Amino acid sequence: MSALPPKRESFGSKFGVIAAAAGSAIGLGNIWRFPYVAGENGGAAFIILYLAFVIAIGIPVMLSEFTIGRRAQQNVYGSFRKLAPNRPWYLIGIMGVVAAFMILAFYTAVAGWTLEYIYQAITGGFNGKTPGELNNMFDSFTSGTSRPLIWFFVFMGLTAFIIMAGVKNGIEKSTKILMPLLLIILVILIVRSVTLPGAAKGISFLFKPDFSKIGASTVLEALGQAFFSLSIGMGTLVTYGSYIQKSDDLGSTAFSVAMTDTFIAIMAGLAIFPAVFAFDITPGYGEGLVFVTLPNIFQQMPGGTIFSIMFFLLLGVAALTSTISVLEVIVAFFVEELKMKRKAATYLATFSVSLLGIMCVLSTSSMADFKIFGFTVFGLMNFTTANILLPLGGLLIVIFVAWFFGRDKAKDELTNGGKLKALYLPVFMFIIKYVAPLAIAFVFLQGLGLINLK
Ligand code: TRP
Repeated sequence: MSALPPKRESFGSKFGVIAAAAGSAIGLGNIWRFPYVAGENGGAAFIILYLAFVIAIGIPVMLSEFTIGRRAQQNVYGSFRKLAPNRPWYLIGIMGVVAAFMILAFYTAVAGWTLEYIYQAITGGFNGKTPGELNNMFDSFTSGTSRPLIWFFVFMGLTAFIIMAGVKNGIEKSTKILMPLLLIILVILIVRSVTLPGAAKGISFLFKPDFSKIGASTVLEALGQAFFSLSIGMGTLVTYGSYIQKSDDLGSTAFSVAMTDTFIAIMAGLAIFPAVFAFDITPGYGEGLVFVTLPNIFQQMPGGTIFSIMFFLLLGVAALTSTISVLEVIVAFFVEELKMKRKAATYLATFSVSLLGIMCVLSTSSMADFKIFGFTVFGLMNFTTANILLPLGGLLIVIFVAWFFGRDKAKDELTNGGKLKALYLPVFMFIIKYVAPLAIAFVFLQGLGLINLK
């Protein structure tokens, strides 16, 4: 009697796969980062460039990750071990797990802020505050210790709770509910925003191309944003790919996920900028846009309380479906490589991420002066993942599929053993062999400051 290994979990439906993967992709990167980056870089001109990168490079990298994961049916480390036994490619997997720790630590810190802001929105905390007071509110919240820590742990707890329930009952079930909810909230916010008097200025800020702002640095900015936003480069989508059923079409899945992610990013811009301009506020950038500028708008707007609750709920939901995808990378690794039970693996992952996470949370308060290479812990995690680990991971992943795994096996996986056509295959191979590695290498070198195309 041979003991069969326990059956590996998988997503139950194609909609489930798309909800989960789009849930990973759609996050703070879309709703918080994309709008202001697009706004700063020529609006529509940037968006056109971004779209080109998503299609020409993002989708091929995403497809490469899905191909690796579904072929190997393993966590990111195990996948490379299995597809390339006794070769050093598994280092990509180790890098992916390390990146997952780092991303989860700082990302959950910001995700925790969204909970504070949901709370403030519900209790009318923005009402009657001047822009200066709202600024102080953000500063005094982030420079405190207990509140940001509590919200961090609540968010980690929510993430762990979903992951513990498993792939089908946790990840798939929750994203199938949360993603449509996210879409509904976003549509309501867009309708509110674009119907405000004076909204047109914001629409043209976002959609009127200003090609004079496009330079070499913009090009690289667009590519970097595409990577972070699509959740590519560290094996999140290798892990999710390993749960995609053998009968699903990987090509159309990657296409739908990438398009949904891009669509939501543009929609987020449409929800934010018309309102910003309607109230004649100079768009504040970065953290300030969402946590300072928007509360200022909400409290001047009729029905602002309800819209502010919706907005921060939207941000929290978007972040949650992303944090679960990152935690799953670590948990799948612990389960399969350390032979742990899912529950124990989740506890261990959550506990160890939290050690790093606490330092990220405290980076705006008691640990603000604790610097490594001139960065706070938060800054270091943010910089190292986005500018080093993701591009490097993405680069190695496409090189692996194009030059080691090879066309024949890739074709077999992408056509489901010959059942599908996959007419895009020659283009896909060309891109992952030449175009993507070169383009990614540029971003990588630029990100590290080793070259400076300005
Ligand atoms: N894509 C998410 C966002 O836009 C963040 C994210 C989730 C991520 N998983 C990732 C980024 C993996 C890079 C790699 O907010």
